[in-house]
Amino acid sequence: MFEPYPHRMMPRASHDELARQNYVAAFKIHAEEEVYPKSKDVYRARVAPAITKASGQAPQNRHAARRALLKDDFCQTWSAVARTLQEMLWDNVGETIERQLPDLIDRAKIKHPKGTLRLNPDIKIPRYNAAIDIHCMPGGYGGEITEDDVYAGALVDRGGYYYVVPFMGHRADTFKDTRERLYGGAAGNNIIRLIKREFPELKPRRILDMGCGIGRGTFPYVETYPDAEIHAIDVAAPQLRYGHARAEAFDRRIHFSQQSAERTDFPDDYFDLVVSHGLCHETSGKAVRNIMNEIHRVLRPGGVTMHSDPQLGRGLDPHDAFVHDWDTYYNNEPFWGPLHDIGATDLFVKAGFPAESVREAWATVDASGSPAIVTTNDTDSALNRSSLFGARKG
Ligand SMILES: C[S@@+](CC[C@H](N)C(=O)[O-])C[C@H]1O[C@@H](n2cnc3c(N)ncnc32)[C@H](O)[C@@H]1O
Repeated sequence: MFEPYPHRMMPRASHDELARQNYVAAFKIHAEEEVYPKSKDVYRARVAPAITKASGQAPQNRHAARRALLKDDFCQTWSAVARTLQEMLWDNVGETIERQLPDLIDRAKIKHPKGTLRLNPDIKIPRYNAAIDIHCMPGGYGGEITEDDVYAGALVDRGGYYYVVPFMGHRADTFKDTRERLYGGAAGNNIIRLIKREFPELKPRRILDMGCGIGRGTFPYVETYPDAEIHAIDVAAPQLRYGHARAEAFDRRIHFSQQSAERTDFPDDYFDLVVSHGLCHETSGKAVRNIMNEIHRVLRPGGVTMHSDPQLGRGLDPHDAFVHDWDTYYNNEPFWGPLHDIGATDLFVKAGFPAESVREAWATVDASGSPAIVTTNDTDSALNRSSLFGARKG
């Protein structure tokens, strides 16, 4: 039985809704573990040989692999299944939220908060955020259907749980009693692990989480650095309203504000640490460079920045690189693939960080299900790792 932790803001599913959500989760796990991996067998047995025979060489990159795989019946089928499951996930969770939306909106109005919420109704939402329903989530992150709406935040909380569980598959059980299981702070914890290893002397007093969504990734910083002033920004108001109420439900002091990471209202040299979790692959190629410039501006000299995103793709063979890139084409994630083509060093050096301060690693889980940080390389990659990349301001 898969059910997210029932905190004060989490929408509650009825018996039948929960059954449907569990059906989707179980189907996704089955597809992840039993169906999608067969794609590589099909690729090796008939797709790559046919291309080699016709053109004299096997597909050399993810684009050539995609063109070849999409002509194959098996690959067309798994791709259609993956897309359908994604749509079923949001539909099923959406119905749970719609039923109790007025109550959730009421609960999100906190009388005596520890943290703060600052919204900006005049903000210009970037087109890369507003123009698409990102990863097929109806309305995207910022869609609003009523006043003081929290629908999209609730969708990310409850739906995000069912999105991630299948990637853990049966290993999800090993997360049962961890904080990650409760509120999903895995990306933040990975960044903290890497920072402690690479920059052990850093004791951040002011921390900024960019593209915080509902603040899932922000929580671990509150726990690890309890005396720090912690800010979290996002362009999407429903994420921030829900995230603020969720943080209060967990008794976490976070200062949420509605701002674009491309240009914030924080002073120069203000932060010791600037982080993001899942932001970079959801902005455009131009925006991600603006964001790094802005981070360089708001970091104090010696301050550190670190980011967690889907694996940047180094070292994957053409088949796996295509599978990893599937979201770019079929899951409304147009900037997922392009991010892979930007190297971490290039990204940070162009923004003014010293090349020798750049760090890049993969986060994964070891055989026992425990989190592990491994060194990136070009020859020994595997799917379902996260990339961590960052630098220190000179
Ligand atoms: C994949 S979600 C990650 C949310 C959160 N960090 C987490 O780990 O759950 C990416 C978030 O970035 C936000 N975002 C996209 N572009 C942004 C920008 N220019 N400035 C601030 N937030 C942005 C989106 O609205 C969304 O909430």
